[in-house]
Amino acid sequence: MTQRTAVVILAAGKGTRMASDLPKVLHPLGRAPMLYHSMRAAQMIEAEKTIVVAGHKAEAVRDAALVFDDTAEIAVQKEQLGTGHAVDQARDALKAFNGDVFVLYGDTPFVSADTLIAMAEKRDTGADVVILGFQLAPPHSYGRLVMNGDKLTKIAEAKDATDKELEISFCNSGIVCADRETLFDLITKIGNDNANGEYYLTDIVAIANEKGLTCGAVECSETEALGINSRQELARAEALFQDMKRAEVIESGVTLLAPETVYFAYDTTIGRDVVIEENVVFGPNVTVESGAHIKAFSHLEGAHVSKGASVGPYARLRPGAEIGEGAFVGNFVEVKNAQFAEGAKASHLSYIGDASVGKDANIGAGTITCNYDGVLKHHTEIGERAFIGSNSALVAPVRIGDDAMTGSGSVITKDVPAEALGVGRARQENKAGFATKLRQKLLAMKEKMKKEQG
Ligand code: UD1
Ligand code: CA
Repeated sequence: MTQRTAVVILAAGKGTRMASDLPKVLHPLGRAPMLYHSMRAAQMIEAEKTIVVAGHKAEAVRDAALVFDDTAEIAVQKEQLGTGHAVDQARDALKAFNGDVFVLYGDTPFVSADTLIAMAEKRDTGADVVILGFQLAPPHSYGRLVMNGDKLTKIAEAKDATDKELEISFCNSGIVCADRETLFDLITKIGNDNANGEYYLTDIVAIANEKGLTCGAVECSETEALGINSRQELARAEALFQDMKRAEVIESGVTLLAPETVYFAYDTTIGRDVVIEENVVFGPNVTVESGAHIKAFSHLEGAHVSKGASVGPYARLRPGAEIGEGAFVGNFVEVKNAQFAEGAKASHLSYIGDASVGKDANIGAGTITCNYDGVLKHHTEIGERAFIGSNSALVAPVRIGDDAMTGSGSVITKDVPAEALGVGRARQENKAGFATKLRQKLLAMKEKMKKEQG
């Protein structure tokens, strides 16, 4: 692909059929607003500019778009007068841009970078306007691509099509690629004399042909062209997304013991030779490096797992969890905003939050970092090779030095210096013969109660 590119993403529609207060393009798909999938396609083809055309609840759409890409621009379409009118809202933002413009859709998430590149290549061969189509029988209410040989002569909207055009099964995905100047020139000439009274973007094809320009089509799979209009379609799209992501992950050298039970987010990154056991869920922003092992029933979100580390079964990694090389986070351990250095271990039943755990430190079962006092969060620092006794409560802010230990069941409120043992619990006292006396007393009571009840 030689040309410079910009992307316009249409996202102004109400999405009435979602029956929701949330704008359609912000409904989650792969744990991210649906809109992010098209924005990511724009990133993958290295678009220099991304313009999101928002309308319904434009503020919310703007905020979400900027979280994904703070260089994205938002154009507001106040009234939804049609797809051609929607693209026209990006005219000003692209005034100074020279290159190709792709029109994508906030509710058409699966279009791949490869397909967009194929469209750009078609442009390189001399097509002024390139439309992305797909085969579908029956073609429902999609616009029909009217071809003459390999030239696209017209797009017929279903409502306005002739019987002959309705027989065509080559459908319009809506995705367009054209040079910026050509595109906005053609849009100027669109009218709204049609069944919907809308400014159809699709009319640019017939107009281009009248002007002696060449239009062509590139074909993609039905899945890539899939648009989401209802929650049923969203659920189907989620299932499709998961299937595609599992296939992609396996293909890249990852073992999934039961692929259909592992759920990924749109941005999950898994290295080679990672093994993921059954029933693992990835929220957004997780990276797992090569050779790590994620055991069954673990939930990871906003976490980084380094080479050869082991997580789970039943572990929960929350945002800011940094698990170092060869570190070990075992069953029922929750980690939030905490770094485990190389070889550090928390094998059972712990909460480690707002903490740093030094190299080769060992955290005993039941250890809790008491990070929150009801108002502020505080930090716990655990040194290298430190040994935290089982059921220690580390009341932050607190520091456990290198090679230090804490006694089991301690409530540690003061720093423990390097190599020291910190003990913070009541001293044990043994009372000789007391157990036997107590047991006899209890048995006598039981006997008495039995007699009283007859
Ligand atoms: C459009 C195409 C049709 C194609 C189909 C693929 C036109 C005229 N028709 O039809 O050929 O087969 O997509 O799904 O383009 N939007 C705006 N502002 C508007 C109108 C629409 O932002 O003023 C957005 C919508 O939010 C939606 C997308 O553009 O995401 C498509 O609009 P929609 O009205 O659903 O077009 P279709 O009738 O599906
Ligand atoms: Ca539609």
